[in-house]
Parts: sequence; C-alpha cells; structure tokens
Amino acid sequence: MAIVTGAVTTSHIPSIGSAIMKNRQDEPYWKPFFDGFPPVHDWLRETKPDVAVVFYNDHGLNFFLDKMPTFAVGAAPEYRNADEGWGIPTLPPFRGDVDLSWHLIESLVERNFDITTCQEMLVDHAFTLPLKLLWPTEGPCPVRTVPICINTVQHPMPSARRCYDLGRAVGDAIRSWESGARVVVIGTGGLSHQLDGARAGFINKDFDRRFMESLAADPEWATHYSIPELVELTGTQGVELVMWLAARGALAGNVNRIHSNYHIPISNTASGLMVMA
Ligand code: DHB
Ligand code: FE
Repeated sequence: MAIVTGAVTTSHIPSIGSAIMKNRQDEPYWKPFFDGFPPVHDWLRETKPDVAVVFYNDHGLNFFLDKMPTFAVGAAPEYRNADEGWGIPTLPPFRGDVDLSWHLIESLVERNFDITTCQEMLVDHAFTLPLKLLWPTEGPCPVRTVPICINTVQHPMPSARRCYDLGRAVGDAIRSWESGARVVVIGTGGLSHQLDGARAGFINKDFDRRFMESLAADPEWATHYSIPELVELTGTQGVELVMWLAARGALAGNVNRIHSNYHIPISNTASGLMVMA
C-alpha cells in the first residue's frame, strides 16, 4: 500500500513568482520568507515522495463564479498553468497520477463526498508556486501531482470541519491505494489576509500563532470555528487556512511538528509554513 510521508502547509502569494524569477531570495524583504524553506528541502530529500496531493483553492483561473464546485479532484495526466494576470511566469505543466486520482475519487464518493471530477484542469498560483518553493529545480516539478481544489472564493464555503474530514478521507484513501508510492500531502493558503474591502491589509498574528500551535497535536481546535467566524478572525482570504486543516487531516496517528516558519507580511499576507509527520 502507499504511504503518506507527511504534510507540508504553506501560504501562496503571486509575488513569490516574481521574486523567484528575479532572484530576490536574499533581499531583506524576501530573505525571512525564503529562509523557511531549506529545512523543508532537507526533509523532502530524506522522505523522498513520489507524488504530491495538493489541497488548494483556485482563484478564477479554472473555475469562475458561474460554476464553483465545493470540492474538485483532478484526474488528468497533466495540469497546465496559465497567465492569471499577475505578471508572473507561467510554469511548465505538472505531471498527474491518474491512477491515484481515480482511487481518491472512488474512495471519496464512497465516503459520501460529492466531488467534481476534472479530467482537464488549469492550475493557478496556489498550486504552482508552493510546488516551486518545495522543489526549486529548473524545469518541470519532479513529483507527480493530484490537485484537490476547495472553494474558498464564493460563499457558501465548506466548513473547517468538513475540510478536515475531507483530508481524513483523502489520507485513508492514499493508505488504501495499492501502490508502493510515497505520497506527501500539501495544503496551500492563508494565513490571515484580506485583499480588499474596508479591512484590506488585515492580519491577525495572535490567531495565526494559535492556529499553527494547535495544528499538529489538536487539529480539532480550529474546526470549531464557523466560516463567518474565520472571516472575522483571519480576513476574507484568511479562510484559505482550511487547506491546512485538510492536509493535516490526511495524517494518521501521532503527529509532530517538524518545522515551521511565520513571517509578516509578504504582500498583504501573513505567510506561514509548516511540516508535520
Ligand atoms: C495575495 C494572497 C493570496 O492568497 C492570493 O491568492 C493572491 C494575492 C497577496 O497577498 O497579494
Ligand atoms: Fe489565495
């Protein structure tokens, strides 16, 4: 059976793409952010995943307000990136893992998750940039991928509890996949940020810290908040932190925090990074 090697959770911010393209990693603005990643690279080298299952939210590249699935699972042999209008480079296509995709889809439907299946799917900065941060090599991403998209763009959104439960079902499905593969689960989004409206620029360091402290040992802590409460506490885009709950949900047994980093701000966002296993 396949194994889950652990979970990596990180923020996704379009300007990271420009910073990488322009080699700004050592500039004072960017260094505290990029310095979080070398320990993750070491951990990935040690744990050698073959596949990454990535929980993220699309921001209007593949799904728009006219058709907005709550949960969508990719089932494509490859996933293309495209111009979202942020002025960042388009990354090469990401390899899929169709066998794992269909195993996840069948297992999730069996567990009563009514998902959308996507045999074609464009992937945006929330998928591409975290993978580039984790595997900063030239050329295509070295691991196969399965994107799982959770709506955090248009209300109504799935609850934190539901996203955590989705992650648990995904973890069980990976562990029941007849394959020798090693699978890392990734969650991208958050932490607190609000891009528009009267509270644009809103960041809640106390909440982010408590959330990060709770996640490995007590993931249920954040699942008690409703979506409106999370919007209040973390900003309209801060609710993306449900991706962290989904990724954490995929881990079974005793879970430890292996690495973390937190830095304010990158663009409008409180950027967080964690590795758990
Ligand atoms: C920013 C953050 C996001 O999560 C996003 O999807 C787009 C932009 C930002 O802080 O600029
Ligand atoms: Fe986002």
